[in-house]
Amino acid sequence: MIEFKNVSKVYPNGTVGLKDINLKIDRGDFVVIVGLSGAGKSTLLRSINRLHEITDGEILIDGKSITAARGKSLLRIRRDIGMIFQNFNLVKRSSVLRNVLSGRVGYHSTIRTLLGLFPKQDIELALTALDRVNIKEKAYSRADELSGGQQQRVSIARALAQEAKIILADEPVASLDPLTTRQVMDDLKRINKELGITTIVNLHFIDLAREYATRVIGIRDGEVVFDGPVEEATDEKFSEIYGRPIDEEEMLGEAK
Ligand SMILES: Nc1ncnc2c1ncn2[C@@H]1O[C@H](COP(=O)(O)OP(=O)(O)OP(=O)(O)O)[C@@H](O)[C@H]1O
Ligand SMILES: [Mg+2]
Repeated sequence: MIEFKNVSKVYPNGTVGLKDINLKIDRGDFVVIVGLSGAGKSTLLRSINRLHEITDGEILIDGKSITAARGKSLLRIRRDIGMIFQNFNLVKRSSVLRNVLSGRVGYHSTIRTLLGLFPKQDIELALTALDRVNIKEKAYSRADELSGGQQQRVSIARALAQEAKIILADEPVASLDPLTTRQVMDDLKRINKELGITTIVNLHFIDLAREYATRVIGIRDGEVVFDGPVEEATDEKFSEIYGRPIDEEEMLGEAK
């Protein structure tokens, strides 16, 4: 479980990123965070693994404070959290397999991983992960030879190889076309269901949020303004989250 307790974040320049957030996210949930550009979605997501430091409050992961954790205990907690980015964050010139294996670095000494010495079990794990997202045959291709959707699958496989219990995905489909978007979202959903990995995704498109989320969290000006099951995330609620009527462009109409 992930728990936010009175979490606030003020950026060094004084911008308020998050305002007194209180949230509990259950294990195995598929949560979509929505809100206007600048609402604080990335700040919220990235505070969970301390890619962004919060300035007040506390975040607990399975009862342990990641906010207070230092050194080894911080690495331990982070090892359970996989991250997926809009731009995939792959080492472009490395092979797909090597990129997926980088999910294993938290389990071994630095020297070992610098030399690329991964145990056989890790390679098995990486190949199984690639198989789960249907791109095992690309294992020995260079990452930058893959399409955008395939590259995003590599980054999902990397989180799987990491044996993450939580996946944080910050606009994972923002660079993809509508068809590929659905394939990547389907992969995330399938993994969430099959492996019970808690998944939190920032998304721009309202209909995608509705299609994939079990729970929707709406953010506006750094505050949670909606939090409920997807069935309750009506057009009216979205208008409230956005502070204005929703327009057509916020729907991913053409992918239907
Ligand atoms: N490094 C930073 N320094 C100062 N302010 C920042 C920084 N990063 C983000 N902000 C500000 O914090 C607020 C929340 O930004 P955040 O990136 O979390 O929004 P977002 O909801 O993810 O937006 P988008 O949909 O555009 O990705 C915005 O006002 C933004 O300008
Ligand atoms: Mg963002």
